[in-house]
Amino acid sequence: MHGSIPPAAPDPTPAELISARPFLSQGTPDGLAFEGVPLAAIADALGTPTYVYSAGTIRARFAALTAALTAAGLSAHIHYAVKANDHLAVLRLLGRLGAGADVVSAGELGRALAAGIPAERIVFSGVGKTGAELARALEAGTGQINVESAEELAELSAIATGLGRIAPVALRVNPDIDAGTHAKITTGLAQNKFGIPAAEIPALYAQAARLPGIAPMGLALHIGSQILSLAPFRESFSVLARLVRELRASGFPLTRVDCGGGLGVAYRNEPAPTPEGLAGALAETFRGLDVALLLEPGRWLLAPAGLLLASVVRIKPGPERPFVVLDAGMNDLIRPALYEAWHGIVPLAPPLAPTNAEPASADIVGPICESADTFATARALPSLVPGARVALLDAGAYGRVMGSAYNARPRAAEAMVDGEHWALIRPRPPLASLWADELVPDWL
Ligand code: LLP
Repeated sequence: MHGSIPPAAPDPTPAELISARPFLSQGTPDGLAFEGVPLAAIADALGTPTYVYSAGTIRARFAALTAALTAAGLSAHIHYAVKANDHLAVLRLLGRLGAGADVVSAGELGRALAAGIPAERIVFSGVGKTGAELARALEAGTGQINVESAEELAELSAIATGLGRIAPVALRVNPDIDAGTHAKITTGLAQNKFGIPAAEIPALYAQAARLPGIAPMGLALHIGSQILSLAPFRESFSVLARLVRELRASGFPLTRVDCGGGLGVAYRNEPAPTPEGLAGALAETFRGLDVALLLEPGRWLLAPAGLLLASVVRIKPGPERPFVVLDAGMNDLIRPALYEAWHGIVPLAPPLAPTNAEPASADIVGPICESADTFATARALPSLVPGARVALLDAGAYGRVMGSAYNARPRAAEAMVDGEHWALIRPRPPLASLWADELVPDWL
């Protein structure tokens, strides 16, 4: 299961978590720092809960992924999966580094364009693009539309013809391969709603080539997220390669293969594949095929580049161990509640003297009125007191974007660090903004 661990394996200590993350450090008297910025300074200035992203981490990870692809001799382009973290500052940073974007809604398309990512570097994915969204994508000049069904293809043809546009299309293949990740984020099995069965691709590709307004360019794939083994990547890439050969033999000049996202990260200390491993699998499969490769990574680029700062509101005794109640909740970071995900939790304050630093096991929870609002169960942490601050690690992907204002809690503030600098990139909304757009009918 996604992020699951053998129950007997001890959790990594805060010191181990920090040393495994090159942009985090812990020192006296400043405590936990992200790049050159003590996180306590951000928490003092902005309060908590607050997300903090590290520009340096994003740059380093983008460079590492690009370098691995180049070293494997691949002509590959990165289309960052905007859903992982759609803040304009993140998109601007990645766009300036040369990334394109993978978007799944008119909103994400708008964000990518607003951040300056050129339309031709944008891929539009998703199983439920509306007619209006397809039209918007065509009008914007989107570089590739990943079509997920015969029905969508027919609708896109009609819309493109009506607009006098030609839609650059890739067909998304459902290879019926188990990505070995959490069931809720597996997308490449036959029973999942995504993509077109491999067996139906040749006929549909031929149809795409006949349809007005459609320019078929190639194939796409995305089998799931937080994938921790290269095997499902290899298997699904070989399905793509087989289809490319078959279609070319039938006379269709495919030029592109979009291999999706999914590369997992070590949230705890689980073995995770490397960019070099992924690049090797790509090179093995596509070497000699002369296709332009596209990748849609989200989590791998962003997860370790962000953390969520929270404060301890109260320590409440429990039957087995205390509850450490934080001011961040599942409305801020839903991954533990939704996927039983494990996130490292590290105090901001420097460690106390060894005699006082005996780790105590606690349940780390939020203030929301649901028992799902639990970040960690039986987690050993140096003892915390009310007012102490912690960082929930690896929250840069699928963190704030999946947040809500449930329990009428304003969504977390956001900041970005870069070297010695930091900036507020989205303030905490004032309470009154929570209901400012609500209309009460005058007949009430
Ligand atoms: N491309 C497509 C078509 C996708 O659906 C996704 C993610 C990606 C790329 C990026 O995948 P990544 O590289 O980030 O694994 N909320 C979940 C993850 C959902 C992923 C959805 N699709 C979580 O917090 O674990």
